[in-house]
Amino acid sequence: MTAGSTSKSTPLLQVRNLRTSFNTPDGKITAVAGVTFDIHHGETLGLVGESGCGKSVTALSIMQLVPNPPGVIEQGEVMFDGTDLLKLSNKEMQAVRGSGIGMIFQEPMSSLNPVLSIGRQITEPLEVHLELGKAAALDRAAELLNMVGIADSRQRLDDYPHQLSGGQRQRVMIAIALSCEPKLLIADEATTALDVTIQAQILELMKNLTSQLGTALLIITHNLGIIARYADRLNVMYAGKIRESGTAEQVYLNPAHPYTIGLLNSVPRLDRPATDRLDPIPGEIPDPSDLPTGCAFRPRCRWATTQCEIDEPSLEATGVQNGRTDAQPANAPALVACFEANAVATSIEMART
Ligand SMILES: Nc1ncnc2c1ncn2[C@@H]1O[C@H](COP(=O)(O)OP(=O)(O)O)[C@@H](O)[C@H]1O
Ligand code: SF4
Ligand SMILES: [Mg+2]
Repeated sequence: MTAGSTSKSTPLLQVRNLRTSFNTPDGKITAVAGVTFDIHHGETLGLVGESGCGKSVTALSIMQLVPNPPGVIEQGEVMFDGTDLLKLSNKEMQAVRGSGIGMIFQEPMSSLNPVLSIGRQITEPLEVHLELGKAAALDRAAELLNMVGIADSRQRLDDYPHQLSGGQRQRVMIAIALSCEPKLLIADEATTALDVTIQAQILELMKNLTSQLGTALLIITHNLGIIARYADRLNVMYAGKIRESGTAEQVYLNPAHPYTIGLLNSVPRLDRPATDRLDPIPGEIPDPSDLPTGCAFRPRCRWATTQCEIDEPSLEATGVQNGRTDAQPANAPALVACFEANAVATSIEMART
């Protein structure tokens, strides 16, 4: 099947058993340890987890941007619109990065070229990928700046990155990423460096624009408090694996993995009083070259049993005991990788009532 030939009912992106590692002087680090997930056309998926959990390496693997060496994509499939991206040549992949998938990173200053005007940086992909002439590209660039909420867009095309605020630079990055109307936009901690009000504005903007354009959105963040209101579905990642996956409502309102609960307790929540005490997860993420046996979250988990030391839980449907099955569509059960998931979800439910 060739790119662009899948129907809307087939997921736009199907990541299957993706495994990416780095050969370091201290040994092999498996940053992504067998990750499987889908993104549907036009959907917003959140990928959440503490720093170092493998979120960026997942995104870089999808984009084939993992530095090699030391990185190696050991196995897996990344089906995008009918094509396995892992099988494409560099040149074919460049075309996908230009027009199929757009990406925005945390630090716009390092992604924007400091010596090129904003206008040039927006028109270049339009000329290369959409083959627009210079005048048409300039018109489109001004339109795009308008679209991302930058006033006096014609004049601003002559500005250089250092003349813009952090929020404006991130708006320009969004304009560039959306310029060739990609089917998927990946935003990796795209708002983390901004203050809270601007973060919300930029997320709102990304969400509105992608829903207008029908673009799917993968939002990567360590902040489960912020993402829950923008995502349709959430994947919670820990030590290179997805530990909980479901609709944003399921994961945010009825979490069943101790790690998800820990993440939720460690950030302010809009649905709780501001006076609620934050409760950070004890301990730190494990050294990826020396993971604990059994469940990787065990050393930090207050629900751990002896089974958790021996076996590794797999990602499975759960939630029969706490009533959350009523809320979940039959075709999209919440998935949790925890032996104690039902007991955990029930005790959280009881603590609330
Ligand atoms: N270029 C690299 N060389 C060696 N290890 C790396 C490299 N990039 C990422 N890693 C390791 O892979 C793991 C996952 O990193 P990353 O995906 O960046 O985490 P996140 O985005 O969730 O904060 C970390 O242990 C990190 O140290
Ligand atoms: S499997 Fe065990 S250690 Fe892992 S999260 Fe569940 S209860 Fe905790
Ligand atoms: Mg990252």
